[in-house]
This record gives sequence, structure tokens and C-alpha cells, in this order.
Amino acid sequence: MATIELKDVRKTYGANIEAIKGVSLDIADGEMIVLVGPSGCGKSTLLRMVAGLESITGGDVTIAGRRVNALEPSERDIAMVFQNYALYPHMTVRQNLAYGLKNRNTPKDEIDRRITEAARALEIEPFLERKPRQLSGGQRQRVAMGRAIVRKPAAFLFDEPLSNLDAKLRVQMRVEIRRLQRSLATTSIYVTHDQMEAMTLADRLVVLNAGRIEQVGTPIELYEKPATTFVATFIGSPSMNLMKPAGGSRNNINWPSNVATLGIRPEDLVIADASAGNGFGAKVQVMAVELVGAESYVHGTTEDGSAIVFRVPGRSIIPIGEMLELTAAPDRFYFFDSDGKRITT
Ligand SMILES: Nc1ncnc2c1ncn2[C@@H]1O[C@H](COP(=O)(O)OP(=O)(O)O)[C@@H](O)[C@H]1O
Ligand SMILES: [Mg+2]
Repeated sequence: MATIELKDVRKTYGANIEAIKGVSLDIADGEMIVLVGPSGCGKSTLLRMVAGLESITGGDVTIAGRRVNALEPSERDIAMVFQNYALYPHMTVRQNLAYGLKNRNTPKDEIDRRITEAARALEIEPFLERKPRQLSGGQRQRVAMGRAIVRKPAAFLFDEPLSNLDAKLRVQMRVEIRRLQRSLATTSIYVTHDQMEAMTLADRLVVLNAGRIEQVGTPIELYEKPATTFVATFIGSPSMNLMKPAGGSRNNINWPSNVATLGIRPEDLVIADASAGNGFGAKVQVMAVELVGAESYVHGTTEDGSAIVFRVPGRSIIPIGEMLELTAAPDRFYFFDSDGKRITT
């Protein structure tokens, strides 16, 4: 078990591609950190620098109190799990699990013991004598996990391990990884572009934007107190609505004087009773209704042409083209300044 510290870590590819622009982060022993952000923001680069698969241009990476910048991947006591499982096709599952341990001259009975333990935890005991091609995608992903577990490393590093699986399996494996990581209490860094995966797996989330940390916090902190419009729209699905504060009534809402953008989550908008006059002034024309099961997402356009989304119960009947007035409780508004920073009121 181990802590991981990143101190002003930088990565420049070639002469001038600044992929990581100074990242500092302290990861606690046993913690599950999820690095999340859009494609190209630098997640894999950062993870690969921790793993030793990419050289570090600047700053320090420390694992279990040891500066590892100059160490080979094999010397860092970490195990990586990728989306392409990287299993040896000609070996059985058992041989795949044993391979890394044999290379480290682990005694045979210890190897057997660890394989039995991991296979039981991952429910892959019936497949130990099969080859990878005789397994489903989900089973292969479990073997890849197993290979990391049997090593008993100081830390697990995951790079989008579930992105090759279908939606249902992805949810199932997500729950399993969460359970395993908790029971093993091994320090982990998990990279994903999927905010739902990030929210459900993380002890703390790190939102990366163009090579910099945008915000660090627990999933609920980031959801309820996003520091910027970037985090506000990245975390939560459908995304938070952002609007210009111009126009409309300002009933019951104290707008800060420096507000440039208003934010409101789709779940906080409700259809106003026009006769009660309790709307906040957003008149919306319904453009499309997406039924997703228990609820529907209504997509509309405001008078100033902004797109807006809100949620209604799944069986609601809302005709396309209908003009509606929306409202929300005054405390459900977010305010952002002209730099996209949230104004705390
Ligand atoms: N080997 C490389 N050479 C040059 N540029 C790279 C290399 N690997 C990644 N990059 C660039 O660095 C940035 C971050 O990439 P990456 O870490 O793969 O992002 P993510 O994993 O978040 O999608 C991107 O702009 C990407 O094009
Ligand atoms: Mg990547």
C-alpha cells in the first residue's frame, strides 16, 4: 500500500506540444482517484508518467515515499490495466496470471495461492484452463484485472479499462471494480472520459482540462459545487444548462452584479404554472422529447435562442412546438463570472 504524490508534473511532446502543464496532487493510501476529462486533455499522458511508460519533462512523481522519475516501470511496484487486455493468446488464463509472478521468481506454492485467491474474488475459477480466445470480453477483462491483483502492487493504474465492453457489461464491471478496489484497499488511479463511470468509482475526482487540473473533489462536491462552467457542464447528465442572465423577470432571485452566465441543472427546472406567475422568465419552445425510461428529457429553445434541457416523468405528454414557462427554486441557480468561475453567494 502506498501514497502517490505528483508535484508540478509537466510533459512536453517534441518541441512544443504541452500535454501536461503543471499538475500537483496528493493521493492517499488506499484511495481511488479518477482522472476524468474530454479526449486529448492529457489523462493517459499523466497516467503513463506515473507508470513509467512516458518520460517526465518536469516535476516529481513519488510512489510510497520514493521519487520514481528515473525508475523503469518494473521498478515502480505498480500494475496497469488497459482497455485492450494485453493477454498472451497462446497461454491459458492460469499461465497468464502466473506469468508476472514467475518472472519475479515467486515460489510455486505462493503463485498457486495468489491465483486461487484472485480467481475466487473475480469469479473466474471455471476458466483457469481456457485460452483468452475462449472467453467473452467481460471475462477477459476480469483476467486482466486478475493479473494486476496477483502481483499485489503498491498501486493499480487503469486506463479506460471498460471502454471496449458493451453498455450493460460496463456497468456490471464498474460495480465489480469498485467492490474489489474497496476490499483490497489498494491505491488506484483510474482514467476515463465517462463522467458517469467517474462519479460512481471515485473517492475523489480530478477533472482535467487541456493539461491542467480544473477541480479536485468528491463526486458530490463537484456535482453540487462546480468551480467553473467547464466542471459544471462536464459532471452531470444531461449537462447543466448555461444561459445569459439578460431578459426575463428576476423575481425572488438575487443576481450577483458580476454574473456573466447563469447555470441550472435539468433536474431543477420545473414547468411553471403561468397563472401563478411564479416563472423566472424563461419561455421555452419544446423542440424534442427523449423518453429514456423512468423519465424524459425535454429539449427546448429559449427566446434568445439558447438550448435548454429539463427532465420530466417518463410518461408526461408534452407536444413538440408547445411554449412553456419554466421555473426553479431560487437556491438552485449557479452564477458564473466572465472567466467561467463560479461566484459563491
Ligand atoms: N506520443 C505523442 N506525441 C505527441 N503528442 C502526443 C503524444 N501522445 C499524446 N499526445 C498529445 O498530448 C495530448 C494529450 O493526450 P492524451 O494524454 O492521450 O489525452 P487523453 O488520454 O486525455 O485523451 C493530446 O493533445 C495528444 O495529441
Ligand atoms: Mg487516453
